[in-house]
Amino acid sequence: MTVTIPEVISEPRILSERLAALRRQGKKVGLVPTMGALHDGHLSLVRQSKELCDVTVVSIFVNPTQFAPGEDYEKYPRVLDADLARLESVGGVDFVLAPKPADIYPEGFDAHVHIGGVTRRLEGEFRPTHFDGVALVVLKLFNMSGADLAFFGQKDYQQAAVIQKMVRDLNLQIGIRVCPIVREADGLAMSSRNKYLSPSERAEAPVLKRALDLARRMIAEGESDTGRIKEKMRELIGSAPSSAIDYISIADPETLDELERVGGGAVILLAVKIGSTRLIDNTLVPSDI
Ligand code: PAJ
Repeated sequence: MTVTIPEVISEPRILSERLAALRRQGKKVGLVPTMGALHDGHLSLVRQSKELCDVTVVSIFVNPTQFAPGEDYEKYPRVLDADLARLESVGGVDFVLAPKPADIYPEGFDAHVHIGGVTRRLEGEFRPTHFDGVALVVLKLFNMSGADLAFFGQKDYQQAAVIQKMVRDLNLQIGIRVCPIVREADGLAMSSRNKYLSPSERAEAPVLKRALDLARRMIAEGESDTGRIKEKMRELIGSAPSSAIDYISIADPETLDELERVGGGAVILLAVKIGSTRLIDNTLVPSDI
């Protein structure tokens, strides 16, 4: 096994120069944007990039513009040394971009990116400025890396849809790959925010996945009325004492428009607070379930 120790770069301009030189040699560049506190979900994206690209770049940046005042920007875990150790143990990561906020948003920075359509509902309703911040930083990462492919997780389904729409609407020359959700043994989707859960909340948290499984079972058994499915999901999640539902949605997988009946494929998405920690999860339901 070849061990690659990634070159850690904080300045976007230096990353751009390094990658431009490699692209001139015909190397295919893969980008994995993250906010760090890396877990196996992130590492699955890194592995995909290593498989499909010659050069892999992981960015680790807790992006201030995607957090609203009162959200968890300050307390978001920042564990760069542990992250670098994890990336070294996976191997094959060539560059880590680990900038400071001023490297990305220097004095005088004043630009905005707004993607419409799929940003409006669900997360967009509960976190109205969130996707503008995500689109802004991701567009900057695309531009500074010139990557051929970028890797995102289905875990943040709506985010991946927003990025795909941005690529289409702005004619960006980059391919997007969306990778499957990686879960803990009890079904909880891996997330850097799972660290916030107390032991008793952590024991309740798999109820999100159980609710998604219940919905899939109902659909497989012939239920098509999304109101009835959501009602049963609500009941199940309500049985977890620390839970509070932000939304449960059964939607068109492309437009994220709400469906009254499940027929030709759907995505089921939910956001639930367990105590003060907000968790999201989803599952894709094929039309031939
Ligand atoms: P972050 O939450 O760190 O996630 C980075 C990437 O890892 C995202 O594409 C996310 O969907 C993916 N991911 C997270 N948990 C996963 C899991 N359990 N299985 C598979 N993939 C998973 O999402 C962000 O950061 C930021 O919004 C970012 C895109 C980096 C922009 O700041």
